Amino acid sequence: MGRISEEAIQEIRNRVDIVEVVSSYLPLKRSGGNHQGLCPFHQEKTPSFNVNEPRQIFHCFGCGVGGNVFTFLMRMEGLTFPEAVKRLGERVGIEVEETPDSPEENRRRERSEQFLKINDVACAFYHQILLDDPAGAQARHYLRQRGYDGETVRAFRLGFAPERWEALTEHLVAKGFGRDLLRDVGLVREGQKGRGDYDLFRNRLLFPIFDLQERVVAFGGRVLDDSLPKYINSPETTVYRKSGTLYGLCQARDAMRHSRDVLVVEGYFDQMALARAGFANAVATCGTALTNEHGRLLKRYVETVTLVFDEDAAGRQASFRAMDVLLPEGLTVKMVSLPAGADPDSLLHDQGPEAFQATLDLARPVLEVFMEDRLAAGDGSVEGRAKAAEEVLERLRKLPSDLQKDLYRKQLAARTGLSEDLLKSRGVAVSPRRPPGVKPAPRKPSGLSGPEDRTQRYLLKLMLVDTGVRQRVAEAGPESLFLNETYRQTGEHLLERQSDKGALPDNLVDTTQDSDLQALLANLLIEEDEAWAEGAEQIFDDCHRAVRRGLLRQRLKELDLLEEDARQRGDEAALNECLRERTEVNLKIKKSP
Ligand code: UTP
Ligand code: MN
Repeated sequence: MGRISEEAIQEIRNRVDIVEVVSSYLPLKRSGGNHQGLCPFHQEKTPSFNVNEPRQIFHCFGCGVGGNVFTFLMRMEGLTFPEAVKRLGERVGIEVEETPDSPEENRRRERSEQFLKINDVACAFYHQILLDDPAGAQARHYLRQRGYDGETVRAFRLGFAPERWEALTEHLVAKGFGRDLLRDVGLVREGQKGRGDYDLFRNRLLFPIFDLQERVVAFGGRVLDDSLPKYINSPETTVYRKSGTLYGLCQARDAMRHSRDVLVVEGYFDQMALARAGFANAVATCGTALTNEHGRLLKRYVETVTLVFDEDAAGRQASFRAMDVLLPEGLTVKMVSLPAGADPDSLLHDQGPEAFQATLDLARPVLEVFMEDRLAAGDGSVEGRAKAAEEVLERLRKLPSDLQKDLYRKQLAARTGLSEDLLKSRGVAVSPRRPPGVKPAPRKPSGLSGPEDRTQRYLLKLMLVDTGVRQRVAEAGPESLFLNETYRQTGEHLLERQSDKGALPDNLVDTTQDSDLQALLANLLIEEDEAWAEGAEQIFDDCHRAVRRGLLRQRLKELDLLEEDARQRGDEAALNECLRERTEVNLKIKKSP
């Protein structure tokens, strides 16, 4: 897809009405200056989802999402920005003209389209063989014996690659596809030493892998016996990246959105078995570990991820790795223990859906299991327990909810015998380590409701309406006024976006693609304006003070660590130095006006 012109986006923006678009998904009712409804992005009983017609933005006070009409559609339908623009363009009858790409980009896109076409033709070819070609008899028998019939084959568009070397190659070449393309998409391999090209998949049962637009982007192919490798998969191409693909997501997303929960399993068969048994909210990774990108993908639809991996050492490690990826996204992560040797497919096959549901009901928070696992791994010595505690704390810091942090800290204290206070100081003293490029989960308003938070929000609100305030913030430097990172970034964004004359653009929410910033801006703009009691002077003072105090409090937490360390080393002098500084810092906090 080429680049869409700014004018086209603007024109669509002008013609589309966000209230109308949102109303096509959920009922809205006018309430004060806004329209309200039940948030489609989290489960709630009283409406906290607000749409503001004049500003053409939305915001949910419950879960913190917000943005413009494009953001809404992206979230709702799992679209990219250009896709959302196109979709809305269609709605209001604006043909989205794409400015021509560079010739290179054009070639890339054409190739991608060809790849999809080839996959589609291949999918139909293999599917037909499995459905009723004599060459598919053995595969049909295999599936039947595992409990799957023609209905499943059709529902999942399963296929069978016959034993022959060139069945697909011949079929595709006869259809006029170039050999080079067939090799590039990976379905055909180049023959060695003058021999002809041959099919990648031979004598394998095929699972087509779909993207969110229900296009076939790759295949996974299983042998019908015990030979190895058990599965081979299409290589990665411009249309298929394993790290961004979840098998079954396209079919599962409605159910996921509805239940706010997803079951993540390891195998294609598992996903298929679950879907067929009525567990419609299941997806599988395609033979790879769960990535941050998977996490963000899931986050569009759910709040809770239930991991259903194999119950062995490898499966556990996979669950813990997934936990490390998913917790920072703000997702609740649970895991299920299956009977040893079983997977969802075998469990459903042997014991039926009730037994599987019973297993699901026993899902436990993954962090709790991790805690037990780490403590069991140690020898029970003080060092062993401290090491386990440190490992757990590292995860605890990534929890976005203070309440959860608190509960786990209590558990950890009880299990390790370490004091809760110490754990607490350790738990928050170090800022969460995040893999590079990974964004923190959007912070929910509930987690940010102290007086300091309110002050910073006031300042941002003042910045929205007052050029003079923006001027002063620019002079003082946003980092000296905002303690909270998203607030600081938003403040900086406002400074960057004001014109030379100091005016802010009308469509502020549209000026950033950062979802955290968008959500916060929508929130600030949509909130009923409370009359703020304090004048600008007071707010500036309060913000400065909040930052100064924040730094001092941070130092106190560091001192907790230093003190504990000095105590353990028996270093009297260092300990005294810590105590002296603590008194000093405490005094400063007290004196801080
Ligand atoms: P499993 O070995 O658990 O297979 O691999 P399965 O899906 O349960 O298949 P059955 O029930 O034995 O027939 C889980 C997933 O790991 C990937 C596949 O995506 C598979 O579904 N995998 C496995 C591979 O990519 N290559 C392999 O060689 C094995
Ligand atoms: Mn299996």
